[in-house]
Amino acid sequence: MAKQKTAWFCQECGVQSPKWVGKCNSCGSWNSYVEELVPVSSGKSATATFHSEKPTPKIISDITTERETRRPVSDDELNRVLGGGMVRGSVILVGGEPGIGKSTLLLQLALRTGGLKTLYVSGEESEQQIRMRAERTGNINHECYILTETNTSNILHYCQKIEPQLIIIDSIQTLQSESIESVAGSVGQIRQCTAELQRFAKSTGTPLVLIGHITKDGQIAGPKVLEHMVDVVLLFEGDRNYGFRLLRGLKNRFGSTSELGIYEMTSGGLAEVKNPSAMLLSHHEEHYSGNAVAVTLEGARPLLIEVQSLVSSAVYGTPQRSGTGFDLRRLNMLLAVLEKRCGFRLGTRDVFLNITGGIRIEDPATDLAVVSAILSSNEDVSIPKDCCFTAEVGLTGEIRPVTRIEERIREAEKLGFAKVFVSKYNIKGLRKFPDIKVTPVARIEELVKKLFG
Ligand code: TYD
Ligand code: MG
Repeated sequence: MAKQKTAWFCQECGVQSPKWVGKCNSCGSWNSYVEELVPVSSGKSATATFHSEKPTPKIISDITTERETRRPVSDDELNRVLGGGMVRGSVILVGGEPGIGKSTLLLQLALRTGGLKTLYVSGEESEQQIRMRAERTGNINHECYILTETNTSNILHYCQKIEPQLIIIDSIQTLQSESIESVAGSVGQIRQCTAELQRFAKSTGTPLVLIGHITKDGQIAGPKVLEHMVDVVLLFEGDRNYGFRLLRGLKNRFGSTSELGIYEMTSGGLAEVKNPSAMLLSHHEEHYSGNAVAVTLEGARPLLIEVQSLVSSAVYGTPQRSGTGFDLRRLNMLLAVLEKRCGFRLGTRDVFLNITGGIRIEDPATDLAVVSAILSSNEDVSIPKDCCFTAEVGLTGEIRPVTRIEERIREAEKLGFAKVFVSKYNIKGLRKFPDIKVTPVARIEELVKKLFG
């Protein structure tokens, strides 16, 4: 028997090397090389064999787009993130931490897609467990097939037999292909199994959803190659202690990645959140110092969130700074601006910041609310309950304009806020809002005067 060929593969990025190396030249990770058997079939890479006939150059206007028709699914939040629905033959990778709700999300999708034949393949749970989960979420689709299998040739056999209109694989790390001998979850297996399934999806036009595990540092486990192979990469995230779950696009060949889907985990499965701002704001009767509401924009949707801050005397020598849901470096920068431009002596004080609801915010328009919350806690003067903020703060202490200001103000108006602070440079040409007072500010000093007199 011919000797089987082996090679070393980086488990982080999938790069192949003829010998072991301590540090990967491609991605820089240490001690990530593992020896694996090279596929016995042909020397060609699996992805290169998709096209059976040789492609010829075509004029762009002659190419028909009918293959890229989208089919909206029953989940509006998922439609939003995908850019309007699932494209024929597309491969979608959904990553997320264990226990965040990936299996629930996709089982619900399989069950709610009425009239569509779906195949849900699980390598992680038994049929009984899946049935129990389905009963909990309260929908049984009689066109939904469940297969507990990890062998790809068997899965493909049933795909051909059942001819489903949507295939869901839970998870790609549990699958195993016979054409390669390494263990399930290794780079070689993940790449081979994805390629085999992808070939089926592309040739039959069936959308394919793969669930992927995530490593400690938030990367989709297994290799970056997986992210390169698929058409869409979505990340399902959220703080497990809160009910909210966010679905974000990281890569989308058929749409934008700035959209955000918001769900709430309930005892009956995941529920779509139709009006996130109203849910994220607390409804306290009393009002405390250190709270401010920011009008942020996540994707195309304005989202009102509450920023809480606590400023207190530093007990130990070095003051502590902590930010939950907010970038710590940005917090430090804003504190430095306050210290330098407004003379606030925050250097001897501990500063804690929290974005409520367990949501991570990246929109710079949160800055003004963060600064106001810190100042409010420092002065121990509360900000009126019906006030909100939307602007970026620059290093010189100037209040900078943000994008899509009218949509933000409209959302704040809709939720009953009476006053919104914006940048002075944002109000040129702004239309009139009857129910909300738009207050322009140009500098931090001006904000302090307007807020605390
Ligand atoms: P699961 O979908 O198994 O997560 P993943 O596949 O990402 O590992 O969901 C795990 C959590 O969701 C589980 O800890 C319990 C919770 N859950 C509910 O709160 N309500 C429900 O109806 C279901 C099905 C799960
Ligand atoms: Mg799962």
